[in-house]
Amino acid sequence: MRKPIIAGNWKMNNTASAGVALVNELKPLVENANCDVAVCVPAIDIPAVAEALKGSNIALGAQNVHFEAKGAFTGEISADMLKEYGVKYVIIGHSERRQYFGETDETVNKRTLAALDAGLVPIVCIGESLEERETGKTEDVLAKQIREGLKGIDDVSKIVIAYEPIWAIGTGKTATAEQANETIAFIRKTCGEVFCPKCAEKVRIQYGGSMNAKNCKELMAMPEIDGGLIGGASLKAPDFATIVNYDK
Ligand code: 13P
Repeated sequence: MRKPIIAGNWKMNNTASAGVALVNELKPLVENANCDVAVCVPAIDIPAVAEALKGSNIALGAQNVHFEAKGAFTGEISADMLKEYGVKYVIIGHSERRQYFGETDETVNKRTLAALDAGLVPIVCIGESLEERETGKTEDVLAKQIREGLKGIDDVSKIVIAYEPIWAIGTGKTATAEQANETIAFIRKTCGEVFCPKCAEKVRIQYGGSMNAKNCKELMAMPEIDGGLIGGASLKAPDFATIVNYDK
């Protein structure tokens, strides 16, 4: 049985003080959650938010990690730097990083292996563009992202995969629950072929893309969907709490 995981991706929102205020509002609203809960915050918010989350059931996540342990990589952050503050999860290969910051399956792979090595749980994002979906390329695109981005992982169930169709991110256009379920089933099947069927059964695969307080129940009712990676709706405590409490 896979335990669902609902994670907020704040993206480039919330100063440290605003982030602390948000998690302080959130804590009591999600304290009885039946799923794993996390907030993935801007790097500079990490120390303050880590302090505010102490003793709560909300885990801390980052939005990127460098693949080298240290050195001359101006502007980058290492896994050890994240770990010192108790960071548990790290988003890797978000489509915004692929689109705007030159992230490739190769760098996704290096970051994922480095994060695993350091004991972080990577949340690896994959997903197709609208054009790729409309021209029937979705499965090829996802299979390539899995084969190349996750190459060399010994046990795929140690990571979380976020299926985020690019056309659904921040657009208000959600994949239908059936579409998301079907695509995630394909991702799981591919993981079974690339890794092992048992690991594929265990790996948690989230849906991300305009998931909100209104559509979360329908999406979470799908058997293949093991959680959500939430952008916009994670910035308001009541909305995010409604998603976390989807089963209540
Ligand atoms: P939205 O929920 O704002 O569409 O963002 C989804 C996302 O990109 C989460 O990583």
